[in-house]
Amino acid sequence: MRPLFARYPSLTDVLPCAEFADLPTPVAALGNDGRGWIKRDDLTHPVYGGNKIRKLEFIIGEWRQQQVREVITFGATGTNAGLATALACQQEGIPCRVLLFDQPVSATVRANLQAMQQLGARLDYCGSLFQTALRYYLHPLRLQRGRYFLFAGCANPAATFAYVNAAFELKAQIDDGVLPEPVEIVVPVGSSSTLAGLTLGCRLAGLKTAVIGVRVAPSHLGLIPACTPATVFSQIRTAHAFLNRHIHGGLSFPAPRPILLDDYYGPGYGESTPEALSAIGLFAEQHGIKLEQTYSGKAAACFIDRMRNSAGPVLFWNTFNSRPAGNLPTAAVRYPLSPPLARLLDA
Ligand SMILES: Cc1ncc(COP(=O)(O)O)c(C=O)c1O
Repeated sequence: MRPLFARYPSLTDVLPCAEFADLPTPVAALGNDGRGWIKRDDLTHPVYGGNKIRKLEFIIGEWRQQQVREVITFGATGTNAGLATALACQQEGIPCRVLLFDQPVSATVRANLQAMQQLGARLDYCGSLFQTALRYYLHPLRLQRGRYFLFAGCANPAATFAYVNAAFELKAQIDDGVLPEPVEIVVPVGSSSTLAGLTLGCRLAGLKTAVIGVRVAPSHLGLIPACTPATVFSQIRTAHAFLNRHIHGGLSFPAPRPILLDDYYGPGYGESTPEALSAIGLFAEQHGIKLEQTYSGKAAACFIDRMRNSAGPVLFWNTFNSRPAGNLPTAAVRYPLSPPLARLLDA
């Protein structure tokens, strides 16, 4: 049983969880001085890890409960969330459609694109983020029953609860003496449910730890706020209100405010920074852990700075898959790539 439900059995009836992930993820010391620690959410699944798999536990729970017949999501061409969703759909036997927008092309982007196709997802290239978002919100399948529209980054209230549960998992590891209570947790922030869930979950689990979010996605899309303290807080408030209703006696504290840093974002989404590249090199050389430039590298740059200046242990929450490519299942039916996506793979 997941630790959130062990603590609050009344939530079992209202938060379906498919136990899709391989949990708890390990925690390890980074170095010998006890100052740096890592939570290995890169190992959440035997063939493909990362934070999306943890979110999908609770999302699949909703698919099963709602008897979903197709999942429609969107993301950048190298979307980790799209890949994880395609894997979950393949394992659940549910068709998956991923609407894609452009991002800087890299080896990871190409590998993820190929993997989504291998898993049997239908990939619809839509061009810009704006065009993709329009297609997603105005999609004709919205009029049909049994369709589950999953926001980019696997972000929805179910996903937030997955990271509330993750905070309880960490609390159990602290109680078991696996690591000391960290002063801070550092985590990358895109669609924000990881930060929202951990911020609320740490408070609920009785940890004094501050959760430091490192923004790695644009703060606004045009004029619309997308990744700001207010957008994260709105996710926290939604989850807080739900728990307040379903936990016996309600919650004894108001919805906590998130901490979101802008300083490590650099020139744009998916574009690396010198600090991220140096953090990626350091993690590879000193700890044998592979990070990347879009998410974990930028968060690791922040982690290194925080650890140097912190009065106590700091935990880096690794959200990027580290399982080797090549072990993903192959779907019986594979859809051909449209010309723009095929060109991207050949380039
Ligand atoms: C590897 C990785 N880390 C972190 C994030 C950010 O997590 P969240 O979308 O919950 O903010 C994402 C997804 O956007 C991701 O793919």
